[in-house]
Amino acid sequence: MKRTLAYCLILTLYFYSCSRDDSSTSPPVIPVVTGPDTTLYKMLPFPMGAAVSASLLKTNAKYSDVVKKEFNSITAENAMKFAAVHASESSFNFTDADNIVSFAQANGQRVHGHVLNWHQSLPSWVTNFSGDSTAWENLLKTHIQTVVTHFKGKIVSWDVVNELFEDDGQIRNSIWVQKLGADYIARCFIYAHEADKDALLFYNDYGQEYSAAKRTSIINLVMALKNRGIPIHGIGLQFHTSYNQSDANISAAISTAAATGLKVHISELDVRVNVNKQPAFVFTTTLAEQQAAKYKFIVKTYKAIPASQQYGITTWNVGDADSWIPAWQNAPDFPLPFDGNYFRKPAYAGIIEGAK
Ligand code: XIL
Repeated sequence: MKRTLAYCLILTLYFYSCSRDDSSTSPPVIPVVTGPDTTLYKMLPFPMGAAVSASLLKTNAKYSDVVKKEFNSITAENAMKFAAVHASESSFNFTDADNIVSFAQANGQRVHGHVLNWHQSLPSWVTNFSGDSTAWENLLKTHIQTVVTHFKGKIVSWDVVNELFEDDGQIRNSIWVQKLGADYIARCFIYAHEADKDALLFYNDYGQEYSAAKRTSIINLVMALKNRGIPIHGIGLQFHTSYNQSDANISAAISTAAATGLKVHISELDVRVNVNKQPAFVFTTTLAEQQAAKYKFIVKTYKAIPASQQYGITTWNVGDADSWIPAWQNAPDFPLPFDGNYFRKPAYAGIIEGAK
């Protein structure tokens, strides 16, 4: 106990002395209690991932250094989405996605593919497409199989279908459901599997921590698919969550997903602190600690599920300045484990604490 306290003190002093750059945009100065040689994935018993931006990887050396050093799994934040790779009907463009995959390969990192089917990020040629159901089916199949085939052997797992459900547990009336009926989801998994028999296939969705109805619908869906012999191997819990989300809800989402026996990926983790969306929000030390506690709880709870089901935890980008949350909620926020200058926040220490 004494030794642990002494260790923490030394590390705290170390970080006070050398870890801050006062030009940081995210106030205040926050101590981080982890050592200089610590890196996230080395400290965790499961893969630790980040969603990455293709342009930041290319242009920002600090960013690419942190991604390389701290993570052993990579998801493309946007570069593999429909609109990014298949912007016009007759051509695919994998430039950004390929760059991300090359980066990961060069650094020995796993690549998780995101995403083959979603109601968002669709180019206008799809939303305006006027074919009959056979033509729609062909569009769906061609897209999925071209993308999966392109990355075969390089991408080990895919979010096959994203966000099929509304928060009340009803199936979303997406363009795919309208054109092809709700069971098109089963065919998405079949098409992906045909293109790469080795790829692990996930159903991915948000809100599983705050909506019991949604959670139930998702579990019913994946169990039905599994029982029909449809190739589905995992559930992605996005976990775009907040520091004041209840521990009971977080636990319920993780344990419900784990009860299916499938792999569980916390696939898009970020923990918001500006829950009232204040325009002039100040990120206080107290909030930073509460955020760290939530990260810790998430990791601790996740670590308690069977090891064979721990596909990993992926944060949705790296530093606070890279997060999609401020644009999404139209208010500042600081939801990630690194600050705007890629210094480790208490949230970072929370992740490591949770794995102890
Ligand atoms: C978000 C990206 O982070 C943004 O940059 C983009 O503008 C919109 O999409 N659920 C998902 C992710 O599955 O693909 C979304 O990513 C966030 C919500």
